[in-house]
Amino acid sequence: MAQSWQSLFSPGRVNLVGEHLDYHGGPVLPMAIDRGIRLRFRPRTDGLVVLASEGHPSPEPFAAAEPPAPGQRADWSAAAAGALALSREAPGPGLDLHLASDLPTGSGLSSSAALITGLIRAVRTLDGAPLSPAEVAGRAQAVEHRWLGVACGIMDPWVIAHAADPAMAGRAMRLDCAVPEHRAVPAEIPGTRWVVLDTRAPRTLAGSAYNARRAAGEAAARTLGLPRLAALPAEALHDALARLDDPEHRRLLRHVVTESARVDALEAALRAGDAAAAGRVLDASHASLRDDYRVSSPELDAITDAARAHPACFGARMTGAGFGGCALALVEAGAWTGPSAEGHGPAGADFAACVAEGYRAAAGREAAVFPVRPFAGPSRSREGATW
Ligand code: GLA
Repeated sequence: MAQSWQSLFSPGRVNLVGEHLDYHGGPVLPMAIDRGIRLRFRPRTDGLVVLASEGHPSPEPFAAAEPPAPGQRADWSAAAAGALALSREAPGPGLDLHLASDLPTGSGLSSSAALITGLIRAVRTLDGAPLSPAEVAGRAQAVEHRWLGVACGIMDPWVIAHAADPAMAGRAMRLDCAVPEHRAVPAEIPGTRWVVLDTRAPRTLAGSAYNARRAAGEAAARTLGLPRLAALPAEALHDALARLDDPEHRRLLRHVVTESARVDALEAALRAGDAAAAGRVLDASHASLRDDYRVSSPELDAITDAARAHPACFGARMTGAGFGGCALALVEAGAWTGPSAEGHGPAGADFAACVAEGYRAAAGREAAVFPVRPFAGPSRSREGATW
């Protein structure tokens, strides 16, 4: 008799501020969102792992007892192979895994960490041996490093794996990555909405440029005798800059130190409900990622400019690794859901249309613009999902 399906939801995340700080041991401020990946799974008796994803060709099945090694798979079965390999200490049954997602893939909303964390949780749920969120996060990060070749930090799997914690429901997360240790922060400012601006521009060279930034930052830390770049106190920045000969090292350090301060500033603005202050932090973060860390792109600059040109926008910045993908804007809620000043259609459509038009004119591409809410927490599905 066929075994019954179980299902779980693995949310995406949007990083509000604190970009390219996690792997330098700095603070970050991400929020799990109401979009993500739904995984359905059940055990198989033939020992195979059979993968399917709505709207995509199915990867070649593989044996659960012998998942493909890093480098053997080029499609998303590489993530599944890594998740299988690192979630089991002893051989277990095969499984059917079906995926449906409303997260744009590879565009800065952490589709990859949502997938890997979800896969690890699915395997451990089947095996009847769930892991703690911190353990799920650590293993998911190792899968990214080894099977996907991206030397990412802990931010994405950490915020996603902890999204079911009741203390995190509807909240953003302040995460100090050097420990790691987190606390809940209000995610939304009354009267405003977080709006994702997807450039729909592919993230070319994201993996290699990402790893190169990380390596350069680590070299700068070594020159300064620091365990991690983010360990430098803000008041020591001036002297430290004078000790670095390489202009790239100086730029990276300046971003890391100023961006760390922006995490404190945005946390304070969210707690105080100060949208104008929050918007200034977003704009300053974008400028620093563009000019100092150099991970923005012409499309990300164009779409954030288009958002800022709308009077309902408090501020905008690229989010995630950069080099393409999505940006984030803080927008007046009335402007998103209410009637427009001109009285023709909802003004949210007006903001979205304005951004799309400005972006089309500047970059010659079609944007996708949509609001996101913080993930509200687990809900038990009819199929017996945990969350
Ligand atoms: C990607 C990585 C994260 C983080 C961000 C940039 O999302 O997976 O670890 O470094 O880029 O902040």
